[in-house]
Amino acid sequence: MNPQQANQTTLALAGVSKSLGGVKLFTGVNLQLFQGQSLAVVGESGSGKSTLLHLMAGLDQPDSGEVFWAGKAVHNLSSNAVAAMRLQHIGLVFQAYYLMPHLTAQQNIELPFLLANKKPDTTRCRHLLEQVGMAHKAGSFPREMSGGEQQRVAIARALALNPPLILADEPTGNLDEDNAERVLQVLLSACGAQGCSLVMVTHSAKAASHLNHILNLSDHQLAELRPANKV
Ligand SMILES: Nc1ncnc2c1ncn2[C@@H]1O[C@H](COP(=O)(O)OP(=O)(O)OP(=O)(O)O)[C@@H](O)[C@H]1O
Ligand SMILES: [Mg+2]
Repeated sequence: MNPQQANQTTLALAGVSKSLGGVKLFTGVNLQLFQGQSLAVVGESGSGKSTLLHLMAGLDQPDSGEVFWAGKAVHNLSSNAVAAMRLQHIGLVFQAYYLMPHLTAQQNIELPFLLANKKPDTTRCRHLLEQVGMAHKAGSFPREMSGGEQQRVAIARALALNPPLILADEPTGNLDEDNAERVLQVLLSACGAQGCSLVMVTHSAKAASHLNHILNLSDHQLAELRPANKV
């Protein structure tokens, strides 16, 4: 990919390959994601979806290939440099949520502001809590929340700094149908209204069908399934 092509994307992967524990997960993954686009990644458990998302987030290094955020190469930067860029560029929802246990829901959502040396926008954070249906738990600690409630706080936290790219690993995995629909709409409206792009790993065909494209990770390759039907 030439630099000009990469520059127009919020996320680009070029020839990315990864093995773990001596087992090949995927090879030659190419992908370009433009502003406002949404992408679902589906595939069997253990196929490497979370690993791929971690590579996209610069949390792990590819064995070969290149990762770009808004045209900037991240695969060859120091982990400190990537962390600083990640804070500005990416909202990340981990499969295991990773909320800070000693902070309340509201404080967890305000944390990205503090990490970025910014004054927390408490009104925005409160609004995000409302959007994911968690305003009533603003003062609760993670140990006082169910898995699905923690998941919704983690989604609100990912949106706190209004990042250009959201990477979400099974963000509806622990949610009932109504709450799954609610957080999907929150994520998709961030794409629509704020023009950010979204990569979402999911086992839910219904959730995937809301997104612009569905990519299947299978047989070590990432390949597009039929274009998603908008529901
Ligand atoms: N640090 C590691 N060392 C060795 N193998 C690992 C490591 N981390 C993950 N794996 C293996 O790599 C494979 C891919 O893991 P990954 O978590 O990416 O799968 P996944 O597609 O996200 O699965 P799921 O749908 O269950 O979340 C799995 O077989 C897993 O056991
Ligand atoms: Mg996973």
